[in-house]
Amino acid sequence: MTSVRNIIFHHPQRMVFGAGSLRQMAEDYLASGYKRFFIISDPAVMEHLSPTLDVLKSGGITLKIHLGLKGEPSFADLQEILAEARSFDADSIAGIGGGSVMDVAKVVAALLHADQSIEEIVGNGLLKGRGTYLLCMPTTSGTGSEVSPNAILIDEKDGSKKGMISPFLVPDSVYVDPALTLSLPASITAYTGIDALTHCIEAFANRFAHPMVDVWALEGIRLISRNLKRVVEEGQNLEARTQVALGSVYGGMCLGPVNTAAVHALAYPLGTQFKIPHGLSNALLLPYVMEFNLPAAKERYAAIAVAMGARRRASDAVIALQGIVRLRQLIRDCQVPSRLSDLGIPADAIPALARSAMEIQRLLKNNVREVTLDDAINMYEKAY
Ligand SMILES: [Fe+2]
Repeated sequence: MTSVRNIIFHHPQRMVFGAGSLRQMAEDYLASGYKRFFIISDPAVMEHLSPTLDVLKSGGITLKIHLGLKGEPSFADLQEILAEARSFDADSIAGIGGGSVMDVAKVVAALLHADQSIEEIVGNGLLKGRGTYLLCMPTTSGTGSEVSPNAILIDEKDGSKKGMISPFLVPDSVYVDPALTLSLPASITAYTGIDALTHCIEAFANRFAHPMVDVWALEGIRLISRNLKRVVEEGQNLEARTQVALGSVYGGMCLGPVNTAAVHALAYPLGTQFKIPHGLSNALLLPYVMEFNLPAAKERYAAIAVAMGARRRASDAVIALQGIVRLRQLIRDCQVPSRLSDLGIPADAIPALARSAMEIQRLLKNNVREVTLDDAINMYEKAY
């Protein structure tokens, strides 16, 4: 045994990063030999996408575009889109949009010709394979779904978010074009950016942290904390958008081998029970989970604070606290609400939120400090 534990990474076969990658996507697709392209996307990005889709059409590609996904996707949404992709006889699938769009595309590609149902692949490593080419292109800088082996969908039977994790959910090709994020509204820019920051923070301060992942996590924290305020205030700043997009990819790369912890576990019920956007849910809880975790991982939180710009001039505990102060300032600077009570959540919902969060043991087991039901209630109350 060495101090570095064994680890397995699954990355996309081809990843193109940078402004203008959309053009490269069309070139590569035309050269790929695929002919029937089923694209799941978002009406908000069609304006940017249309010229590229025209290039594909004039290259002889038959396209079918699904734009109907609203809010966080459910198993029923998945079934509907899967049926559509099957009747179209797709030979290739793309998700061009935010995390929900890409998660659905990943599962559609996996199940298109599979003999498994959606229920059978919920969990870790249960998907038997993927026979269909999968391309992902994020249009927000946040979820990191384009490089992760995870997909999250709502099971309407119990209203909870179910996670599917499999190396077969990692796309074949990924194109990250920060120019696609230029027209994102400030609020979505802020929420998704905080989500990416949370991926990095939770992967770095994690019971299963790994030195290779630490490198991406710290760099992601540095890039996002330095540039997020700027992209919220100056949406058209391509340089800052590119830095945040890079941080978001690093955050996504952390999600496979290490994954998130208590912030995400406590955030999910806010999404399912009160439809609070995922990034905002994380922003509401992140400072309180960090405060709770701090005694268990002072050194780690001090390194996070330094990546956020704090000076190494005091003890780890003091520097770590400065990191939380900086985080709160960043959340304020990005005009993200910071209290559950600001969002119309009744105080008496807290015990049920905490009980739901406690069921997400797949993430809580990663947390640097054990979380009990009382601890979860306490953190929600502090965030209220
Ligand atoms: Fe997330």
